Amino acid sequence: MRETSRRHTAKDKSIGFVPTMGALHDGHLSLIRRAKDENDIVAASVFVNPIQFGADEDFDRYPRDIEGDREKLEKSGADVLFIPEAKMIYTDGFSTHVHVDALSDKLCGAFRPGHFDGVATVVCKLFNIVRPTRAYFGQKDFQQTVVIRRITEDLNIGVDIVVCPTVREYDGLAMSSRNAYLSPEERKSAGAIYRALQAAAAILKSGSGTVSESVSAMKSVLSAEPLISEIQYSGIYDPLTLAEAVDAGKEKLIAAAVKIGRTRLIDNILV
Ligand code: PAJ
Repeated sequence: MRETSRRHTAKDKSIGFVPTMGALHDGHLSLIRRAKDENDIVAASVFVNPIQFGADEDFDRYPRDIEGDREKLEKSGADVLFIPEAKMIYTDGFSTHVHVDALSDKLCGAFRPGHFDGVATVVCKLFNIVRPTRAYFGQKDFQQTVVIRRITEDLNIGVDIVVCPTVREYDGLAMSSRNAYLSPEERKSAGAIYRALQAAAAILKSGSGTVSESVSAMKSVLSAEPLISEIQYSGIYDPLTLAEAVDAGKEKLIAAAVKIGRTRLIDNILV
């Protein structure tokens, strides 16, 4: 991968990089297409990163489909596919981790301890191997984009971070590799997540509603859905610090994480 990257950069080619964990859908492929528009060469990686999963999470059953992924990437215009093995990424004696203070324990971090250290560490490693000009991430994982922007700036990584819009299903559900876990009934109720975000946005945008009215509207849409077994968080936040918002006005992040059966789903919108 290093050698390939070096060869392209020596010819002054820009490299757009899209890191993924595979089981690719249109959300991932929208990043590939955007990278294709903005760079000479597009590199994608598929690596289900063990250190970003908690002990009781879905690492073992995370969907894997390398052949399907390869085909989709080729059709979408990717030039290079990097599929490292875990033992190459985490060699014997591996002991360096990247930790982002303040941002990592909020929102998803509060429910997934260590998750963002795992993401920050692997993204740093992938950036060091691929050495891209730009890297592409989805807004769907909003907190991840905030963490990655932070490490890129704090550690002088010199990669431009591009955040792309969330690609959704017909009913607004954000595309996710984890949607494959949902039964047909669960899939139907998952549509409530986006409806809840929209309900909160409508109140904020009307200009007359308060943040707490908006949060209540979101919670009542989610609570009305019997198959939502847990609301981990649902609220309105400052998109830079991820702190809970107090007053309306300025840009806000509306975000939620819920469990439907055993499946954990997240989504957000900016208003
Ligand atoms: P993964 O969940 O495979 O997602 C790879 C990229 O695709 C992420 O930037 C994610 O935000 C983006 N993505 C996922 N669903 C999307 C959607 N519906 N619309 C737009 N973009 C979407 O995120 C990871 O992998 C990992 O944490 C990774 C960054 C690869 C580090 O291991």
